[in-house]
Amino acid sequence: MKIEFEDLREWLIKVNQMGELKRAKGIKLENVGKIAETTVHLENTPALLLEEFPGYDPGFRILLNVFGSIQRIALTFGFPIHSDRVTLVKHFQKKLDEMELLPPKYVSSGPIFENRLTGENVNLYQFPVPKWHPEDGGPYIGTGCMVITRDPEDGWVNVGTYRNQLHDEKTIGFYISPGHHGWVHRKKYFENDEPCPVAVVFGSDPLLFAGSMIEFPWGVCEFDGIGGWRGESVKVVKGSVTGLPIPANAEIAIEGYSYPDKKKEEGPFGEWTGYYGSSLREEPYIEVEAVYFRDNPILLGMPPQKPPYDADKAREYIKSALLFNELKKLGIPGIINAWCFGIGGCRLLIAVSIKQQYPGHSRQVGHAVYSTPMANYLGRYVIVVDEDINVTDLNEVMWAVLTRSDPATSIDIITRATSGPLDPILSPENKKMGRFYNSRAIIDATKPYEWKEKFPKSLNQTSNSKTSENITDG
Ligand SMILES: Cc1cc2nc3c(=O)[nH]c(=O)nc-3n(C[C@H](O)[C@H](O)[C@H](O)COP(=O)(O)O)c2cc1C
Repeated sequence: MKIEFEDLREWLIKVNQMGELKRAKGIKLENVGKIAETTVHLENTPALLLEEFPGYDPGFRILLNVFGSIQRIALTFGFPIHSDRVTLVKHFQKKLDEMELLPPKYVSSGPIFENRLTGENVNLYQFPVPKWHPEDGGPYIGTGCMVITRDPEDGWVNVGTYRNQLHDEKTIGFYISPGHHGWVHRKKYFENDEPCPVAVVFGSDPLLFAGSMIEFPWGVCEFDGIGGWRGESVKVVKGSVTGLPIPANAEIAIEGYSYPDKKKEEGPFGEWTGYYGSSLREEPYIEVEAVYFRDNPILLGMPPQKPPYDADKAREYIKSALLFNELKKLGIPGIINAWCFGIGGCRLLIAVSIKQQYPGHSRQVGHAVYSTPMANYLGRYVIVVDEDINVTDLNEVMWAVLTRSDPATSIDIITRATSGPLDPILSPENKKMGRFYNSRAIIDATKPYEWKEKFPKSLNQTSNSKTSENITDG
């Protein structure tokens, strides 16, 4: 396994060689949101590089749909390009289980410093930044972004994708869901009445970016994770304003501070649930003191859409593999596979297949899913199926639900589980009162253990026909 690119530009060359890159020139910025929304849902959608926006420096570009095909996901993570979904998720499980951490390597300079603007010269309006959804509160520069913060007590660095609204030429929003690692870092600074130093990257290669949307444990820097994945340290430069590490090959980056007593209205924004989730409210923001960018920089656009959107397509593999590994570590036997469906933002719908070993096994697995840290936040439905069901195929999973479950006896409900402000089913009152609880259903869609041998034989068990041999032209 080898990662065949050093940065986003080399990744684009590879994708172009695969015939999966499309370019469009001269598109008006106000049309970019619609293009993103319509192209992301196409099957095997190509990566889309938008160039030469009217009214902007012709070199400034936006890239969409990086994870739009299984081939590009395989390329990005260094796996064989022609894998099917089940084979690919098995690669992820193995890699995540075996990988070690490798800290970043500091270098004195890099392409990110090809252009540096500080103080009065900072002007974020120079970048073409779309308003991604018609009812967004404004343009968002940070969607495919990496927000870098340092723990003020322990000194470890976190990297997370937290959206950034472009408030004006020198300030950007800084929305982080409560509990996310960057949120905890920022809270620690604010509780000591200190400004929180921040660096944000707005374009990087998709593997490095993926690090910031993987839920690495508390205390683990995502750069160490991606270095370990690559088998080679991520090269970083030291930001001159904050001292934070910034990837040397990044496309665009900023540095600045967020202050405890300074807030601006943020949102609304189209979110991963497929709704304008959070209403307009006051959030901290970042006062940008320096901006860096490569010549002809590329902004990575990954606006959330009705799921599954671009991020979900890659996260299906990552989150499913993490969940599978966590379930295995619990020591429960017979776990065959696990899948976090993109249609639920990789959170709301999970399926696990098992080879049933004893009475109660399937319920144990269903409950175990929600006891893993990975699946705790904003879950909704877990479906447990037998080993003959391909969990990566929604049709197969639903067929099992429809034919092997009995609503009166097959569903367990958990109440007062962890939800959050983005949950569309929480009433406005509950959101206002901070009652972030939801319920969960565990659907046992396995054949009843005590008579599973007598369960009707499924057609693909009885059929010996080879479809391709039986179909003739005309
Ligand atoms: C495209 C995209 C946008 C996201 N936007 C936000 C956001 O605005 N705020 C947030 O808290 N999490 C957001 N997330 C989720 C976090 O990035 C993700 O849960 C990450 O693992 C959190 O990192 P942490 O565990 O280091 O805090 C987003 C994820 C993606 C893929």
